[in-house]
Amino acid sequence: MNIVVGVTGGIAAYKTVHLVRLLTKGGHDVTVVPTEDALRFVGLPTWEAISRHPVTTSVHDDVAKVRHVALGQAADLVIVAPATANSLAKMTAGLADDLLGTTLLATEAPVLIAPAMHAEMWRNRATQANIATLRERGVHIVGPADGELAGGDSGPGRMSEPEEIFAAAQALLTPGDLLGVRVVVSAGGTREPIDPVRFLGNRSSGRQGVALAAEAAARGAEVTLVAANIAGDVLAEARHPAIRIVTVGAAAELADAMKREAVEADVVVMAAAVADYRPVEVSERKLTKESGGVPPIELAENEDIVAALASARRPGQLVVGFAAETPEDEVELLERAHRKQQRKGVDLLIVNAVGWERGFETAENAVHILGPGGVDAGVASGSKRLVAAAIWDAIAREH
Ligand code: CTP
Repeated sequence: MNIVVGVTGGIAAYKTVHLVRLLTKGGHDVTVVPTEDALRFVGLPTWEAISRHPVTTSVHDDVAKVRHVALGQAADLVIVAPATANSLAKMTAGLADDLLGTTLLATEAPVLIAPAMHAEMWRNRATQANIATLRERGVHIVGPADGELAGGDSGPGRMSEPEEIFAAAQALLTPGDLLGVRVVVSAGGTREPIDPVRFLGNRSSGRQGVALAAEAAARGAEVTLVAANIAGDVLAEARHPAIRIVTVGAAAELADAMKREAVEADVVVMAAAVADYRPVEVSERKLTKESGGVPPIELAENEDIVAALASARRPGQLVVGFAAETPEDEVELLERAHRKQQRKGVDLLIVNAVGWERGFETAENAVHILGPGGVDAGVASGSKRLVAAAIWDAIAREH
């Protein structure tokens, strides 16, 4: 997304450097528009380096590109952080005597401001009237927080922390297209017990499934996350009031949970890596060398859960499967995927090539999305959260 970050002249500008970093790390394209005064606090080279874009305060630079309106027109979101008392007054009056002023007037994107000033200035009736007017015009306001202010005072007026402003920005950029949709997502990898201390497992960390659950919840869905053996730090990403977590271990438990939860769901996403086979016998006691020889482990086939869910789906319910493949090339990847989609009877299939160094246990992913009937529904790559967003875009188109 294209984000303009306006910076006005307050000491909190140093915290905005971190905000810009969070935004760029989150995959956004950020253009910083400081006021002249803001440059007294944090200099131009810092803004250019952190945003990786040229930075100017003036409407007279880059005139050929009509920069004074182009930035605002192209923006998906404009943030002003810190927003000083003076800048709030200018915004309320609609003044456009610098690049930030013209950008704010030219944009139709949501505007998010993070006020920062001394408590007296914040409480002043002029400032409060300006805030009320801006709010009425649809401007979103985050903070200010109550706390220590420059000069040792304390009270309301402290700019919200960059993480909080980032979260507010993400919420504004996230479509509410899954509002009220009931979703079940499986994630992680099953463990098929051999004895009380050993299992047959796989390398799935659950990150992609957790990202899918978190993205769905952010877009308004009610989510049940069926989590198979996911580490606590990964599962923490799914902490959201709209996400209920059900934990499971082996494929049979995952199958039971999915069948139970799918009854009420509008969309079922099977992102978990399921063991295709399980040991026929599970020893009650640890197998030891004293038991004699190399233990033969006889395997039985597990049920294909997603195929069962797809054949039992009710009208209007969408079932989404994943395919983890280790192909020679792209052609083989897609051939295998098409066969798998037909074999499993799923509506959408998310295909990713995996290997020793890709797909598993990494923060990034790259997928092909096959829509109903095997039609090409696009590709996505980047952080697992960005990939999750692209997958939900494709699902929302079918829902
Ligand atoms: N899956 C399932 N039940 C199984 C095995 C897999 O529901 N017993 C689901 C996975 O959750 C995924 C999809 O099927 O959504 C594809 O998984 P994958 O491991 O790629 O395929 P397999 O069915 O194991 O086929 P193969 O081993 O031939 O690639």
